Amino acid sequence: MTKTISVFGLGKLGFPIVACLASKGYRVIGYDLNPATIKAVNERQPNIHEPGLAELLEKVGDLSATVDYRYAVENSEVTFIVVPTPSQADGSFSTKYVEAAAGQIAEGIKAKRAYHLVVLTSTVLPGATEGRIKPLLEKVSGKKCGPDFGLCYSPEFIALGTVIRDFLYPDVILIGESDPKSGKLLSGIYQTVCQNNPPIVRTAIQNAELAKISLNAYVTMKITFANTLAELCERIPGGDAEAVSRLLGFDSRIGRKYLSGALAYGGPCFPRDNQAFAFFAKTVDCEARLAEATDRENEHQNERIVALVRQRLGEVKGKRIAVLGLTYKPETDVIEESAAVRISGALLQQGARLSVYDPAGLENARKVLGEKGVIYTTSAKACLKDADYCILATPWNEFKNLKPADFISGMKKPVLLDCWRFFDSDGFSEQMDYTAIGFYRGDKNEG
Ligand SMILES: NC(=O)c1ccc[n+]([C@@H]2O[C@H](COP(=O)([O-])OP(=O)(O)OC[C@H]3O[C@@H](n4cnc5c(N)ncnc54)[C@H](O)[C@@H]3O)[C@@H](O)[C@H]2O)c1
Repeated sequence: MTKTISVFGLGKLGFPIVACLASKGYRVIGYDLNPATIKAVNERQPNIHEPGLAELLEKVGDLSATVDYRYAVENSEVTFIVVPTPSQADGSFSTKYVEAAAGQIAEGIKAKRAYHLVVLTSTVLPGATEGRIKPLLEKVSGKKCGPDFGLCYSPEFIALGTVIRDFLYPDVILIGESDPKSGKLLSGIYQTVCQNNPPIVRTAIQNAELAKISLNAYVTMKITFANTLAELCERIPGGDAEAVSRLLGFDSRIGRKYLSGALAYGGPCFPRDNQAFAFFAKTVDCEARLAEATDRENEHQNERIVALVRQRLGEVKGKRIAVLGLTYKPETDVIEESAAVRISGALLQQGARLSVYDPAGLENARKVLGEKGVIYTTSAKACLKDADYCILATPWNEFKNLKPADFISGMKKPVLLDCWRFFDSDGFSEQMDYTAIGFYRGDKNEG
């Protein structure tokens, strides 16, 4: 039975994973290139924004991190690889960090007598695990995949902000296995860690690789469909995307999740997995037209919000626009591919002056939006001050405290674009100029 697990890569995914594994009684040894991260794990002080991680770390038993990668491998039976696989210009994923980690793990395997299982969690394209990682492990270790060590591709379908819950209560576990022995070993680990006895799909590695990017490509398609629906509802008298989505959501073939119709999808996974899906299709002489259309349509969603602002303000040059929320979704500090930041950047380029506020993502946004023309405020109310227009861009819970009076007294002109139908539509539209994405816009259509 597995007692000790090592994890290479202790970032947004790896750090919560080591905490979860250690909380279930495993001895866990983490390894990361970044000494600050190793310190954070050893001191049990999260250096990432993930709800519940600090609390979980208070309860975990045998968790440590080391700079000595060979020690980590030699003293464990299983190693997870959770290092970055950044997107490249053509949409593919770079495996350079995975290969570096695999080379290090192979050195450890070489020095070991016992069987070792390597689990690749990082997102890769179909063919990468067996085409690149397996030969590398065999070459450096001088051992054979199968008898000497096992290899699984087991990606996570986890969302930032709920990593711990998603890891402990997954809808499904996916294991691509080099052979039944490796898959069985990994299944056993998940069975002890997951709290909800999830279905475990064990398959050939290339199916698991395809399934991972397919899932996100499918979800982005669904989000995009919902966004188009919202656009349609804005054009029909009485149109209400909420009502239409509710109906669709009850159908068991569709389901309600990701069907809200709001802003473009963003974050570190959705856009790039969708693009990688389209890229991969081309490599096997196939066109993933739906994925390509989804990508284009997602771009359009950002452009359409900028157009809505322009429609109401006319020229945005010199106008002060308040942006509430910058992260790609609430409960994270990540702003990668965030619609809020993309829209803010476009408005800035057109000469608008911005005041922005986000409960967690301000510093990350500052690195992208810069200082020129942007005031970074420390509260929602400060953000509204003297603004000509406000965009509710990320539906953080704390914005629920805002009342029409805050917009009326704080802003130069109380005009609000609610991208998430977040506020009470009737209450707000009675008192101020309020537009919500997905509701009929009436005269506002004409601009
Ligand atoms: N973040 C998510 O929501 C999510 C969800 C599903 C899948 N993934 C995938 O998981 C992988 C990791 O994502 P992340 O968001 O945790 O990345 P991250 O950038 O937050 O963290 C990666 C960590 O790996 C470390 N690292 C780099 N090279 C290393 C090496 N050779 N050895 C040891 N450590 C190394 C980095 O220092 C960093 O701490 C990616 O492939 C990503 O696509 C992420």
